[in-house]
Amino acid sequence: MRALLTGGAGYIGSHVALELLERGHEVVVIDDLSNSSRESLRRVEELSGRKVDLYVADLSDIDATREIFVASNPDAVIHLAGLKAVGESVADPIRYYRTNLGCTFTLVQVMREFRVKKLVFSSSATVYGTIADLPVSESSVVGQGITNPYGQTKAMIEQILQDVAVTDPEMQLTILRYFNPIGAHESGRIGEDPRQVPNNLLPFVSQVAAGVREEVSVFGDGFATPDGTGVRDYVHVVDLARGHVAALEASLGGVRAFNLGTGHGSSVLQVIKAFSRVARRSIPYKVVAPRLGDVAVSYGNVVKAAEELGWVAQRTLEDACRDAWRWQLANPYGYSSQANSFVPERLDPKPDGCGVVPPP
Ligand code: NAD
Ligand code: WQD
Repeated sequence: MRALLTGGAGYIGSHVALELLERGHEVVVIDDLSNSSRESLRRVEELSGRKVDLYVADLSDIDATREIFVASNPDAVIHLAGLKAVGESVADPIRYYRTNLGCTFTLVQVMREFRVKKLVFSSSATVYGTIADLPVSESSVVGQGITNPYGQTKAMIEQILQDVAVTDPEMQLTILRYFNPIGAHESGRIGEDPRQVPNNLLPFVSQVAAGVREEVSVFGDGFATPDGTGVRDYVHVVDLARGHVAALEASLGGVRAFNLGTGHGSSVLQVIKAFSRVARRSIPYKVVAPRLGDVAVSYGNVVKAAEELGWVAQRTLEDACRDAWRWQLANPYGYSSQANSFVPERLDPKPDGCGVVPPP
């Protein structure tokens, strides 16, 4: 299959690209590089020995997106593009609604124009909000008790896809609800490359282990959990990427949602200890106030993905910490060659202003 990955230069997208290439699929990427760089895909090419066609464009630009569909003729789309920082979404909700919803509107419209019927969408367990029973299954209520605009965009996009499916019964729309993706490819060549102070626990812990930051702030130890700290379902990014391959290759009709997680939770302190073990160094931390909007516990029921996609996460928390640590040591500045050198890439519009840079 020739798969078009929106946001394919990013953390999860680059791992999905590699797994697809290794399964023999072709990969085309549309990414505006607002939170990523070409280097991730250059390394994917190096690891796979195969070519990735990267189009640098804003997915919400419909003319550019049409042009990319003409040039690449995809069989299916995996839609990962969007903004993902929870705190930033609270500070600038309109930007989040405009980008995440706008990209999806454009994509779905162009897919319909070009009769591309298969879409896999990057959703999040955040759509279950704060009121779901544990472990959270796909039949839990979606869209209630969501505490931030980022999560709202995911729930809204899921609803939009449900509505689209009604108008076109031939569409195959697969919604993947990720729990907490962590880790890196075992080669240490691709991984997570946060541009600012990391929002998520794992990259923060990794930077403390490396001495880039002083200590981890543990957001609360008074939750109703065994050690009082928050519990999450951490899933290795390579397992997650393979879930996308399984979703792409499955023949599913209509809209189907799947949890992608391990089915069990680990606490913040367990994560710090696991990382400390694999990095063989102590990781200083201090307990601070809980973060607004955080739930105590979240982990998924993952039976549906096993039964219908044949997908089960294989890797452990230790595996993910080890791979994240290998990535951190080999790439202390991520994909850059020096600290703080990231400048978002400007789109190079063609003379007609459509904003597409064709693959070299
Ligand atoms: P990421 O920021 O690394 O990747 C997103 C990519 O989208 C980036 O390469 C960015 O440059 C690109 N992009 C952003 N706006 C764009 C636009 N208008 N046009 C074209 N490209 C655009 O993030 P990620 O962690 O790889 O996440 C991928 C997807 O998975 C996102 O939709 C995210 O919301 C979702 N998700 C991520 C997590 C997580 O913890 N990382 C959890 C649940 C869901
Ligand atoms: C994990 C645990 C924190 C940082 C978020 C989004 C979700 C998805 C994944 C993406 C929690 C604790 C964290 C720190 C800490 N995002 N923590 N100190 O909040 O479960 O999920 O990322 O697209 O939608 O909501 O992940 O990694 O931020 O936090 O103690 O410095 O670690 O309280 O218990 P979260 P996280």
